[in-house]
Order: sequence, then structure tokens, then C-alpha cells
Amino acid sequence: MSEFKFSKQNKEKYNELLKKYPNKASLTLPLLWMVQYQEGWISEDAMIYIADKLGTSAMDIQSIASFYTMFNLKPVGKYNIQVCKTLSCKLCGSEKIRTHLQNRLGIKFGETTKDMKFTLSEVECLGACGEAPAMSLNDDYVGDLTVEKIDKILDEL
Ligand code: FES
Repeated sequence: MSEFKFSKQNKEKYNELLKKYPNKASLTLPLLWMVQYQEGWISEDAMIYIADKLGTSAMDIQSIASFYTMFNLKPVGKYNIQVCKTLSCKLCGSEKIRTHLQNRLGIKFGETTKDMKFTLSEVECLGACGEAPAMSLNDDYVGDLTVEKIDKILDEL
């Protein structure tokens, strides 16, 4: 039994989505997004809730949620920074960016600042290779990164 519940708005959205997705399994990703936007992350309790809604197992939901790096499986900071660690970005100097971000925020990859403001992680290709080195900042991409550009962004946040 899950203690997680959708907000009123998400309950309404879920009922609307049910009309569009006769195969409930197709609702897995939309429901995971709804949980993440509601809570900021996806707890095991929320996975059980989704599994109950879809008539599947929490293990099935967990295996899908853990496959995609955009789903947060633990609480993250207000600003979630994911830095690309793949080839194009490496060739364009992402190591310098990665080191600078860790030094500037005082945390390592996989960590969150004590004030819960920033989470830093590294991910595979973000699909923004044309603007390498790149990172995502919550739902936005930021490319053509330089140390100066990182400093400007962090100062603004
Ligand atoms: Fe970094 Fe593709 S290699 S965005």
C-alpha cells in the first residue's frame, strides 16, 4: 500500500490520460513525469502507487524509472545540473567544465549541496553534441560551455 498520492490536478490529468491510452502500460512514462514534477523525485512509494494504477509490479516501474537518467530516484536540489561525459563533449573540453563545476559548488558528481540548491551529476550524451560541451539545467540545455559561462549562470542562480 502506498502513502503517495497524486495531487488533485494530477488525478484529473491521469483520468484524462486514461482515455487516450487504452493500453495502461503506455502510461508508465507520463505517470513517472507527473510524479517527478509533483515531488521533484520519484520515491519507491510513488512507484508502488504507479504500479497499482497500471496493474503492474513496482519492480517493473522501478526498472523503467532507473533506465532513464532524467528521472530522479532520490531528492535533488532546486537546480539539477547534469553534465555530459560523452565523446564529443570530452573532445571539446568538458573535463575543465566538470572540474570547475565541482570546485565551484563544493560537491562531487552524484551529490547535492547542503542547502539543497544544486545537484550535480554526469550523464551520457544529451543529444546536444553540436553545442559541446553541454549540460542540462533542470529542463533546459546549456551548450558551448566555458568556465566563464558556468560562472555567469551560477551567479544568476
Ligand atoms: Fe555531449 Fe552529445 S556528446 S551532448
